[in-house]
Amino acid sequence: MLPLFSKQTIWYSSEMEKNSLFLDACNGRNTKRPPIWFMRQAGRYLPEYQALRSKHTFVEMIHTPELAHEVTLQPIKRYGFDAAILYSDILVIAEPFDIYFDFIEGKGPQLRNYHDDIHDLMNKLTASPDFDVFSYVYETIRELKLSLKSTPLLGFSGSPFTVACYLIEKQSSKTFGTIKSLIEESPDLVHKLLKILTDTTIQHLKNQINSGVNAVQIFDTWGSILEGDLYHSFSLNYIQQIIKAIKPLNIPIIVYSKNTQQRINDLISLNPTVLSVDWNSSLAKIAKDYPALCLQGNLNPHILHDSKEEALLQAKTICNEMKNSQRFIFNLGHGILPKTPLSHVEAVVNYVKSL
Ligand code: CP3
Repeated sequence: MLPLFSKQTIWYSSEMEKNSLFLDACNGRNTKRPPIWFMRQAGRYLPEYQALRSKHTFVEMIHTPELAHEVTLQPIKRYGFDAAILYSDILVIAEPFDIYFDFIEGKGPQLRNYHDDIHDLMNKLTASPDFDVFSYVYETIRELKLSLKSTPLLGFSGSPFTVACYLIEKQSSKTFGTIKSLIEESPDLVHKLLKILTDTTIQHLKNQINSGVNAVQIFDTWGSILEGDLYHSFSLNYIQQIIKAIKPLNIPIIVYSKNTQQRINDLISLNPTVLSVDWNSSLAKIAKDYPALCLQGNLNPHILHDSKEEALLQAKTICNEMKNSQRFIFNLGHGILPKTPLSHVEAVVNYVKSL
């Protein structure tokens, strides 16, 4: 049997955060209603975001503490979500090695200075990382902590494999075939790359925590493209190393994993504080098997986009199924879609808050 989470830990870092539904749920102490926040809640569906975004690129916005601060707060001000998430991106993690992504409208992330091949990329990554380049991130966190009052702030990172998919492909892809071939041809090289990303991620998360975030989420969007043992050795293994290194800092660790409904036991073996799943997994079933685990999810963002009525129905089903759990955080199963109508978001937030 996999480990269940016996030890109760108190993660409240200040008097005000003692009133946090979100931290209560992480801690198994939520008695009133499920806390709610949405992945990508600060984003293009908000007119106030669009207004700023029309004047700046995404890269400028995340690198400018005043703008990142304002954008992080936008969904909190409009909807009163129970947690804020730092406005940044998982792909900034290579910046200490002078590797930058641009984000092209309609295309997604694109590596700025293309490496010729994996050896060229590895050369860049073997330099010693300069974490000072992240001072804009840590300054944003410190400023946010002053503004957010009782609302907790989440920091985050990508899983090393998910970040490596973009670094090796140099852009978005539906299949990430390049990294899969490379795993076959040069597995040691890929391990070396993942180890560097893991160590950098651990340091970045520690720095975020020391700057004031109240919880961290690790986004594992692409681990599911790996099969069998490859999934364990190239994806799970590195998430495990991050969790082990961060656990002693004693704040909730959320693992979000997409398309991994067949791998729930593996994910639970990582011993995260919270497991966040997409809509292909049944929260009720996981909760039945692992009652001591806090779960987060899992409304389908496509339904939220398409139909208010359907989204409300599904939100009700999810909340009903989870109504006896003290360890449940309402969220989407993946990031909110850019054209989601505000009225749909409002309806779901109001419903969850009325419970
Ligand atoms: O949840 C949040 O709002 C926190 C900030 C955050 C962003 N991206 C902001 C963002 C977080 C946690 C991420 C995670 C992220 N970024 C992941 C993992 C989760 C997932 O969505 O699968 C991945 C794979 C990325 C890489 C990335 N960044 C892609 C593929 C894209 C393009 C897709 C898109 O929506 O345009 C981005 C850009 C991005 N990251 C935007 C935002 C708000 C859109 C920026 C804009 O044009 O204004």
